[in-house]
Amino acid sequence: MYEIAVVSFQDSNGDGQGDLVGLLQRIDYLTWLGVGAVWLTPIYKSPNHDFGYDIADFCSVDPRFGNLEDFDKLLRALHDSGIRIILDLVPNHSSDQHAWFDESRGSRNNPKSDWYLWAEAGANGGPPNNWLSRFGGSAWEWCEERRQFYYHSFLPSQPDLNWRNPEVREAIASVMRFWLERGVDGFRVDASAVLIKDDLLRDNPPDPEADDKTPPPQACTPVFTDDRPEAMRCIEYIREVLDQYDGKLLCGEVQGKTDRIGHFYGNSRPRLHLPLNFALLDTEWNAIALQAAIDAYFNALPQEAWPDFVIGGHDKHRVASKVGQAQARVLAMLLMTIRGTPFLFAGDEIGSEQVPIPSDRVQDPFEKLLKGFDLGRDPERAPLRWDDTDGGGFTDGAPRLPLSRDRARNIKAQQGDGKSLLNLYRELIALRRLEPCLLQGEYLPRRAQNDVFSFGRRTNETEILVGLNMSGEPRLWEWEGCGVRLLSSGLDSGPEKVTGPTHLKPNEGVIVKVNR
Ligand code: GLC
Repeated sequence: MYEIAVVSFQDSNGDGQGDLVGLLQRIDYLTWLGVGAVWLTPIYKSPNHDFGYDIADFCSVDPRFGNLEDFDKLLRALHDSGIRIILDLVPNHSSDQHAWFDESRGSRNNPKSDWYLWAEAGANGGPPNNWLSRFGGSAWEWCEERRQFYYHSFLPSQPDLNWRNPEVREAIASVMRFWLERGVDGFRVDASAVLIKDDLLRDNPPDPEADDKTPPPQACTPVFTDDRPEAMRCIEYIREVLDQYDGKLLCGEVQGKTDRIGHFYGNSRPRLHLPLNFALLDTEWNAIALQAAIDAYFNALPQEAWPDFVIGGHDKHRVASKVGQAQARVLAMLLMTIRGTPFLFAGDEIGSEQVPIPSDRVQDPFEKLLKGFDLGRDPERAPLRWDDTDGGGFTDGAPRLPLSRDRARNIKAQQGDGKSLLNLYRELIALRRLEPCLLQGEYLPRRAQNDVFSFGRRTNETEILVGLNMSGEPRLWEWEGCGVRLLSSGLDSGPEKVTGPTHLKPNEGVIVKVNR
């Protein structure tokens, strides 16, 4: 699964912003790489206060990206290339410029008066309770027309919809049907854990671990706003709508600790196919921490649940900046050989790093409203570098955000370099398709030792071992037996017979098919 922020992918008309026609022109690249499916961040009509996650019309394409006809063309072309497409579904909130909100805010008794979360002022005339917006300050905004407050988990211009209202559910179901009828293959559900807020409006308790380094919006533990049991019913409802169509996928952004992730799969009533798992991004990057993070994740999964691993996204700092370029290769090997669906964010395949954004070009409200906490998301959202020119092959105009100054790190250069990270990804993806064991095989944990993280995959016919040297020095990888080395992360030699234990070069990962 390859996440694309359309606005940063490929501009076709020189306005400095990526668009659907631009993306259409790059399908060859996706095919070359071996991408199985793309997920597009919101392309809908939006005043764009939050990267398009503030939607003014759920069933339209924003003019800066093109129009519905462009979308249909893109969808057909992707399907013709064997690539599936899922869209971001943002059921929790709309833009305050959505017609629904316009109507809702007008009076206390209009037909949509109960479509958003309205509440009376607190005893002192202030907000109804202590709930905080993720972007800072109270999550309640005063509305003079109704002389009431409305709730917004995010920006004041992103009012939360009232998911207790069956009409709201049905309205979002219609949005889903609109896109499913057009042929999309599923959705990534935005903020799926916060769809319902406590109906008693109980205050959130202060987080005892918060200190002066904690961003103010995280000063409280969101017991009464996040991950309410009733929110799970909403996800089940969304899944029911999806399941009226064949072969569709539901992924979802879920908050909270790893041990909660299992609940998002559902029990008797299914919820998400793939609650997104950020364990690889959230863990410290060493063999001991990694084995604990991965084990905790697999432990949290219900039986039969299909895993997934995410290494990048529009809300996450670039992983290559965290682990470094040498370890980015080891991560690529891990991602493509571990059991579960791999998720990359466009640019991760060339090791894109955080791009410094001068303060006068900042767009992300997180950075504007909460300075100094390293929360800004523009650095990972910078346009993709296709080549080393000024516009990076992304645009002929002035790019919406600066491109990376590391001009050499671009797609064209890495396509031409047989040993690049990009070619490593390509080979790994091809190998994954070739070896059913890498797709379906069970996961066999092994003991991390000596800075080497190692695991096996096994089907009835095949056993594959993966050894990852997470240090910058040579290491001995302990395993017994003999087999064929299928791939080394350095791409420096072809398949060859090997016997364990194996000497791993610094930052080297190796995949071995064991003789049985
Ligand atoms: C999700 C999106 C994020 C956005 C937020 C509000 O968390 O991933 O980018 O800011 O929802 O819509």
